[in-house]
Parts: sequence; C-alpha cells; structure tokens
Amino acid sequence: MGTGELRQRGQRTDSGRQSGAREAAGVDARSGHRTWWRNVARIAATLVCLSVCLSYLITETALWGHQSKWTNWRNYVPRRQRVFTPVELRQYDGTSPGLPILLAIEGDVYDVTLGSGFYGPGSPYSLFAGRDATRAFGTNCLSRKDHLTHDTRGLTQGELAGIKGWHALFDNHQRYVKVGVVRLDPIDPGAPIPPPCDGAQPKPH
Ligand code: HEM
Repeated sequence: MGTGELRQRGQRTDSGRQSGAREAAGVDARSGHRTWWRNVARIAATLVCLSVCLSYLITETALWGHQSKWTNWRNYVPRRQRVFTPVELRQYDGTSPGLPILLAIEGDVYDVTLGSGFYGPGSPYSLFAGRDATRAFGTNCLSRKDHLTHDTRGLTQGELAGIKGWHALFDNHQRYVKVGVVRLDPIDPGAPIPPPCDGAQPKPH
C-alpha cells in the first residue's frame, strides 16, 4: 500500500469520526431539549395542581371563585339543542316528578333543575318555570300574570338592559345549562301592551 493510499484512508477515518461526533452531539442536543421540555411540563403541572388544591381549600372552587359557562363542566357534555313549543315547555315547570325544571328568556331555554330552591313548586320564582316570561325579568313584576310573557313592547332601555343582564346570568351560570330554544308565538301588534306594574319589587341584585 502506497503512502498516498494510507493518507487517503486516514483522512476517511478522520471524517467518519467527525461526522459520528456531530451526530452524537445532535442526539445529545435533542435529548437535552426533550428533558428541558419535560421539566417545564412537570413544573407547570405541579403549579396547576397546587393552585387547584389551594383554591379549593380557600374558596371551595377550583379556580379561585371564578365561575362562568366555561367553568361549568355540564357545558362540555355534547347535547342536542331542542326546539320547544310553548305548550311543551309548560310540562317542565317542576310539577312533574322526574322531569327537569326549564325556563326560557328571550327564547333560549335553560335547565335550572339545580336551582329548584328558586324555581321548584312553592319557591319564590316558580312562576318563571316552564315558560318564557322575559317581560317580568325586565319589569321585576312578579305579581301580574300579563307580565309573564315574552312580549317586550313598550319597555324602557333600562328594563331591556335588565333582561339582557338576566339572560347573561343564565347563560354564564355555573349550574344551569342551555338545552334549546322555544318557538314563541308572534306578538299581535294590535294587542294591548301590558300596563306598567305598580307592585314591582325593587331588584336587590
Ligand atoms: C325585595 C325583593 C327581592 C328580594 C329581597 C330578593 C332576594 C333574592 C335572593 C336573596 C336571591 C338569592 C341570590 C343567590 O343566592 O344567588 C334571589 C334570587 C333570585 N331573584 Fe330575587 N329578590 C327580590 C326580587 C326579585 C325580583 C323582582 C325578581 C324578578 C326579576 C327576582 C328574580 C330572582 C331570580 C330569578 C333569582 C334566582 C337566580 C338564580 O337562579 O341564580 N328577584 N333573590
């Protein structure tokens, strides 16, 4: 074997060693990255667990008292939204054992069974159950039947804003869930507008 051939072979071996070293360095860097990410994930998971536990101990909620429809797990259960007629909705006023309690506001129907202390038979707000009484939410008029309607003609801006507030409360509630809509009868434009309610209660909330 000539000197030139030996030199060539030596060069090949050197470059093989170098590329092997480069590969090893690449593998080291990749596994270093993986370990770094794994540690970050571990620390993040520990912090989340600690926060949830502490929050539960202090506020009895997992997210430091924050409550909205996004923290209501019931909203993550897939369910088909149902279209009710007003007559069908009446069945869900809490008087039929085994059926949920539903109420509607601005045409959206919510399952409020977990608020049966408010809406169940004999409860202070049972008149909202099984119907769309949007007007009464705006006028605060719980004493007159003609306000238990979805007819919002003639309401003031403040009363309409009040309705939006109640609607948002049901929509973002921690225990209630939207189950569908009610196909409301159109309002006869010739029908008289319900007169203002003199016995309206002041709204405390
Ligand atoms: C002086 C009159 C009133 C008082 C003292 C009163 C008091 C209360 C109280 C203490 C609660 C429970 C709040 C909670 O635990 O989160 C409540 C809930 C409620 N109030 Fe009144 N209220 C009055 C008038 C009204 C009126 C006029 C309306 C009509 C829009 C109304 C609608 C409601 C509803 C729908 C709930 C249940 C909210 C839910 O499901 O979470 N209240 N009320």
